[in-house]
This record gives sequence, C-alpha cells and structure tokens, in this order.
Amino acid sequence: MLWLKAFHIFFVVSWFAGLFYLPRVFVNLAMVPAGSDAERERLLLMARKLYKFVTPIGLLAVVTGLWLWFAFGFGGGWLHVKVALVTVLLGYHFYCGRLLKDFAAGRNTRSHVWYRVFNEMPVFLLLAIVILVVVKPF
Ligand code: HEM
Repeated sequence: MLWLKAFHIFFVVSWFAGLFYLPRVFVNLAMVPAGSDAERERLLLMARKLYKFVTPIGLLAVVTGLWLWFAFGFGGGWLHVKVALVTVLLGYHFYCGRLLKDFAAGRNTRSHVWYRVFNEMPVFLLLAIVILVVVKPF
C-alpha cells in the first residue's frame, strides 16, 4: 500500500504543478495586445502542451486514489468530502480545457483579473483536501 500511496502523492503533486501554472498562462494570454500573434501563438503552444501533459497525470492521481480507497478498505466522512472536492477539481481541470479552446478560437472575453482570481481556486482545494486526508477530522 505504501508504494501505491507514494505514486498517488507523486501524481497529485505533478497534477497540481499543471493546475497552478495553466491558469497563469491564461492570465498572460488575456493580456496579449491585439496584433501580437507571435506571442499569442507561443503562449497557446505552451498551454496546449501543458494541458496534454497534466491530463493523464490527473487521471492517474484519481485512479491511484480510488485504488487506495477500494483495495485497502479506507472509509469515513473525510474520504467522501475529499472525493466531492476532487470532483470539483476535475471540473476545474476540464473547464481549463474549454477555456484553452476559447483562447485558440479567439473567443475569450474574460479579463486577466478574472483569470488571476480563477488561478487561486486550486490553492484552496489543495489545502482542504490535504487537511481532510491527513487530519481525517470526521
Ligand atoms: C478520487 C480521488 C481520490 C481518492 C479516492 C483518494 C483516496 C486516498 C486514500 C484512500 C488515501 C490513503 C489515506 C491514508 O493512508 O491515510 C489517500 C492518500 C492521500 N491523498 Fe488521495 N485520493 C484522491 C485524490 C487525491 C487528490 C486530488 C489529492 C490532492 C489534492 C490527494 C491527496 C492525498 C494525500 C496527500 C495522501 C497521503 C495522506 C497520508 O499519507 O496521510 N488525493 N488518498
């Protein structure tokens, strides 16, 4: 079980590297002046590669978590709330994919300020999930 948990934490950390950085690229994309196509294309390429890289890693974080849950008999309110928050996190991840498509199609209407606030959401989710799984308050 410890090997599985070690890989679970590895995939979680790698997933969050992407969840923290991808919206930051969106902040920069929302600030690209009109006509700066080279800069826009460079940022879009970076965002596409990052999204493609962290999507399977996020799914592996979830698969190893479910494996821990079902193979080793974990349970309790903490795990149910954790899984609910992870579902929100998955929604956030795939919403980033949709926002990336909007940027690529030139459909983005949101400001860089909106993306700065949006960028903070994974921080609070991570804090809540780590407290739930380590402290197991209920
Ligand atoms: C559906 C998704 C997930 C499930 C079912 C799940 C389930 C679990 C289970 C059963 C454990 C073992 C708990 C223990 O040994 O006490 C665990 C460990 C852990 N999980 Fe998840 N997890 C999921 C996703 C995540 C995510 C997204 C994060 C990060 C935000 C995360 C962070 C952790 C951490 C840090 C540990 C190690 C806790 C410790 O060693 O005390 N998990 N997870």
